[in-house]
Amino acid sequence: MTLSEIQRASSDNLRQTYFRLAMSIPDTVLVEDPAYRACLGEFEHPICNFAADLKLDPWSGRRLANLAMSRRSFNVYALPGDEPAHVAELLIRCDFRISYRLIQMASDGAPVEPSIDMRKAESAPIRSEIAQFMTDQFFPRQTSGFRRRIAQATADSQVLDLYEMIWGDQRIGGVMLYETELAVGIYNLCIDFPRRGQGLGRLLTNWALRQASLRTKPAILQCDPHLQEWYEKQGFCRTGTIDVYTLSNPVRRDIMGIT
Ligand SMILES: CC(C)(COP(=O)(O)OP(=O)(O)OC[C@H]1O[C@@H](n2cnc3c(N)ncnc32)[C@H](O)[C@@H]1OP(=O)(O)O)[C@@H](O)C(=O)NCCC(=O)NCCS
Repeated sequence: MTLSEIQRASSDNLRQTYFRLAMSIPDTVLVEDPAYRACLGEFEHPICNFAADLKLDPWSGRRLANLAMSRRSFNVYALPGDEPAHVAELLIRCDFRISYRLIQMASDGAPVEPSIDMRKAESAPIRSEIAQFMTDQFFPRQTSGFRRRIAQATADSQVLDLYEMIWGDQRIGGVMLYETELAVGIYNLCIDFPRRGQGLGRLLTNWALRQASLRTKPAILQCDPHLQEWYEKQGFCRTGTIDVYTLSNPVRRDIMGIT
């Protein structure tokens, strides 16, 4: 695959995953605009309030800003392959700013380490438990109510496969895989806090790589910049960045009496 093909495959996998998670949250609606796709949810969190799949021009950029203004929190994901090439400039002109950046990474290398035993969640209660475990690892400082809602969305997205790493009778790691036409996406990869730093994360990543190579597709993921080097050591290459935009001055229209 060329770099632009892998970027497109990665961006497509990410969009599908994010929209599936969002649409599993009750009362979330999909907005199909020729210049973007968005979802709007009652739960005031970007998990179900965001836009992606951008083909913006100055007019649709303004439309998107108005939509964002109607929500308490709203993310715009600018991914490799979005249009036009100067999408960043358009978003900034429409009052968005980069809130954070993720690194898009991919690997089509064969895993080198022996595989480990992982268990796929096959029932709703186990899906809920693994999703809760993941949410606890990623959002330890958020309220338990918040973590429950995110976990529920993860568990309810049946097309997203959840796996757990078991040691004895304890769950010590987890990962979510989502296969699209051209890639296998690795999401929510995590190790229980007290078990970190013992090489388990590397084994888990290696196992996920093996799953992708068994399907003869590249493995793709998005990570915080501080994890780029860690993934590079495991054979991943940086393929691009994902810029996450929010409104620079989020004054809600309903507060201003406009809606
Ligand atoms: C990232 C994570 C899976 C790593 O698991 P782990 O079992 O601790 O990783 P390993 O023991 O295999 O690797 C340890 C090595 O990675 C480095 N490392 C681990 N987590 C790191 C982090 N957050 N930032 C930078 N380096 C990190 C360690 O310094 C160590 O380096 P060394 O081998 O040179 O000493 C784990 O920290 C985790 O669950 N984090 C929270 C969830 C998360 O951010 N997941 C990544 C999603 S993209």
